[in-house]
Order: sequence, then C-alpha cells, then structure tokens
Amino acid sequence: MADFVGAIDQGTTSSRFMIFDHAGDEHGKHQLEHEQILPRAGWVEHNPVEIWERSSAVLQTAINQAGLAPSDFAALGITNQRETTVVWDRRTGRPYYNAIVWQDTRTDRIASALERDGRGEVIRAKAGLPPATYFSAGKVQWILDNVDGVRAAAEAGDAVFGNTDTWLIWNLTGGPNGGVHVTDVTNASRTMLMNLETLDWDSELLSFFGIPPQMLPVIRPSSDPAGYGEIRLPAAAAGIRLTGDLGDQQAATVGQVCFAPGEAKNTYGTGNFMLLNTGEELVRSEHGLLSTVCYQFGADKPVYALEGSIAVTGSAVQWLRDQLGIISGASEVETLARQVSDNGGVYFVPAFSGLFAPYWRSDARGAIVGLSRFNTNAHLARATLESICYQSRDVSEAMEQDSQVRLEVLKVDGGVTANDLCMQLQADILGVPVSRPVVAETTALGAAYAAGLAVGFWKDTDELRANWNESKRWEPSWSQAQRTDGYAGWKKAVDRTLDWVD
Ligand code: G3P
Repeated sequence: MADFVGAIDQGTTSSRFMIFDHAGDEHGKHQLEHEQILPRAGWVEHNPVEIWERSSAVLQTAINQAGLAPSDFAALGITNQRETTVVWDRRTGRPYYNAIVWQDTRTDRIASALERDGRGEVIRAKAGLPPATYFSAGKVQWILDNVDGVRAAAEAGDAVFGNTDTWLIWNLTGGPNGGVHVTDVTNASRTMLMNLETLDWDSELLSFFGIPPQMLPVIRPSSDPAGYGEIRLPAAAAGIRLTGDLGDQQAATVGQVCFAPGEAKNTYGTGNFMLLNTGEELVRSEHGLLSTVCYQFGADKPVYALEGSIAVTGSAVQWLRDQLGIISGASEVETLARQVSDNGGVYFVPAFSGLFAPYWRSDARGAIVGLSRFNTNAHLARATLESICYQSRDVSEAMEQDSQVRLEVLKVDGGVTANDLCMQLQADILGVPVSRPVVAETTALGAAYAAGLAVGFWKDTDELRANWNESKRWEPSWSQAQRTDGYAGWKKAVDRTLDWVD
C-alpha cells in the first residue's frame, strides 16, 4: 500500500525533495543548493547538469533516509522555478548553454523592440504577459542567435527547449534513452509562446522569436492521470509515476488551497509572487499584473490567476549579507532591524532586475533614498524588510483594482515568513491580517497535491482544504495616517529609480 506522495521542488537557489502523507504532513526531505553564475551585470545563469545531479541526489537521499522504497509512493510531482530556460541536445542530453535564469536581463533589447513595433500588444492579448526579459521566449531566441550551431540543430529537431520541470522530467524518464519531453499549462503560460485561451503553442508568437516549433515540449494538464512517464533514474525512485507538474508559484497556490475565485496567497522567496485565483474566467489586467494559468486538474477546465511578480525581495536580504556584509546570516536582518523603531526616513527600492509588477520597467535600477547622517545599518535593514512589504502592497493594490475584490486576509508562505518583524510590517503596511499555515513548504505540498489528485490518493480539493491549518496570524497595528504617509514615501522612492538606464 502506497502511503506517500513525493515532490521535487527545483527552485532558484536550491533543489529539494519532500515526502508527504495523506494528512499533508512531512515525512522526510533533503535539499541541496546550486551555484548562481553571474558572468556580467544583469546576467544570471545556472548549470543545468548541476541542477539535474542535485535534484537526483536529493530524491535518492530523502527516500533512503526515510527508509522507503518506490512502492511506498503513490505518485511524484514536480514544481520548479518558472521561465528559466534550458536548451539541450536530445541525442546526448548535453545542454548547449547554461540555463538562463528568470532574473537575467540580457534580453532587454529583444523585449523593448517588441514593445516598439506593436508585437507587444499581440503578446499581451494572446499570452497575457507584457514583453519583458522575465519570460522564456526571449531567452530561447538569445541562445538561438548567440550559441554556435544551435539554430541548425533546432531546425533539425535535435536542440530542444524546456523550463527546469521539462529538463528534469526528461532526465528522470530516461534522458537520451527515451526521455519524455513535456511541460504543463502553468509553465507553458510563462514562456510568451502559449495562447492562454487555446492552451497551445501559438505560431504567431513563435514567429516573433524565430523559434522552430519542433523545439517545444508537449503541453499537458498540471495534474495528469495519464502521467508524464515513469522514473527510471535515480534507482531509489525507479518505477514511481510522475503525475503532477506545475510552476512553483502555482504550486504554492494549490498548497495554500486557494481553490475558489477570490482566494490569494503571497510567497516570499528570492522574489515575491502574489497569485489571485480568478476561476475559469481569464481576467486581463489593466494595472500591471500578469494573466496566467493557475492550474489544470485532469480533464477539468483550466483555472486562471492574476499574478503580481516581484523580482527582488528575499534576495535583497542576501545582498545585505553577500555584497554589503552588514549581516552574516539572513536571519540576522531581523535582529538588526529591531534595533530601531522605524525606518528613520530611509527607503530602499531593490530594483536590481528593473522593476517587475506592477511597473514593468526594465530601465529602473536600485536606489536607497532619504539618507541623513543619523541613519545606520539598522535603518537600512528595516528599509529592506519594508521594501518587501511595500512591493507586496503595490501588487495588492493592483489586484484590488483589477478584480474589484478587497483582500480580507493575506495567506503567506516561503522563507521570509519566518521573519516575525517582516510579517508584522506586512500586516501594518497592507492594513489586513497576514496568516501563515502550519506546513510552510506549500510549494512542494502543492506539487504533491497535484500528483496525488491524479491517482486518487486524494479524492478531491475538499479533502485538501481539510489539511490546511493556520499556525500564526499577524494583525495590523499602524494607524491609517502612518500607513498612508509610509506608502507615499515609498511611491516617491520608486519614482527616483525609473529612467535610470537608457
Ligand atoms: O517566476 C520565478 C519564480 O518561479 C521563482 O521562484 O521560489 O524559485 O525564487 P523561486
């Protein structure tokens, strides 16, 4: 009898494997980081072979440490950093180039050219996305244009594309020896190549980027009873069926059981991603949000979401640690920020990759403003935490305007939610309560849910709802005047970052 479902979470900084039981409780995990390759300003790469090896290793180690066998698993799900682009040779399994990461801005000329000549409007209408460096299509075009031999190999059907879900599924199911080349609707919705209504690759969008269709994976539901294949490697997992695949932010939305229209979650990782379930209705944003697929379970109609993507939040804390050296571990930011009772007039806008939602300004660059001699590292630490919360406020304002739904409580998850001060500031800055579930690993849990639903391990979404329990809630404590003044200061600071790059 299979008592467990497993999930690989292939994220921006690490890969982890988690094992869940029927109650959604954790029964083992293992996690390994991978290198962040930063060859030039604005460029961010990962080594796809390292990602595959680490993902395979965490899978094997967690299963062995838990003393389980493949037959103990009903199914396995995959979730992944979205948009990050791998192009590899299907004959050998060798990548032609490093993975170009979602944060990478090298394709800014490709994106701005699309905006100038009207193709941007077509992309908005068909893919639900603004033309931006963030999404996969420009990254594939860059590889086709800049890496010797790739275009010819792509035309011959040898060079294939995938986000890291596709890359891992292909390797898990045999690689060059019969690996399955698939993705799901949520990942495909982040490429700028899929039509959000037909849920299929769109030939006009492909032509904008000169991408041969034979490079692309087959698009499947996020929870698929037919499955994406059986695991062949690593041996510890051989024979387990892969039946769930969805982008990490969509997976967190599922893990937070946001199954009804109007339910939303905010995940605090390297960036922040707020998703609002809009049901079977495809809502088009007029305030700088993305329209995206939230999930598709089996033969059901797809469920859509509005998304506010913020590029730099947790990674701003890492910047304080790695580049400025004012803290030695990420958790120290809270202690430092608590040394002061407010931001001392300082605002930090960490527009390191330009600004994503709701601004979509690739010409923005980071700024620390409002400094006087009185200010200390502690004010900067506090301004960094506030920047996470103010960016989330920008996105939630846009969401309320687009959906006409007033946020009543914000469900949160992700690493930064361990920071009590930051979550209190979030409640204060938004003026709504913030609520964190008991199982903080909602991303992996969501992928496990998708996989388990496909094989009947969980009967339906009501059964999943029953697994959700609150562990902590933060209530707003600021006065309305404090909230209004603070936000006005933030908006002024954002203005200073725009038009920075020509
Ligand atoms: O769109 C990018 C997002 O999927 C990355 O998430 O958690 O890996 O930083 P994370």
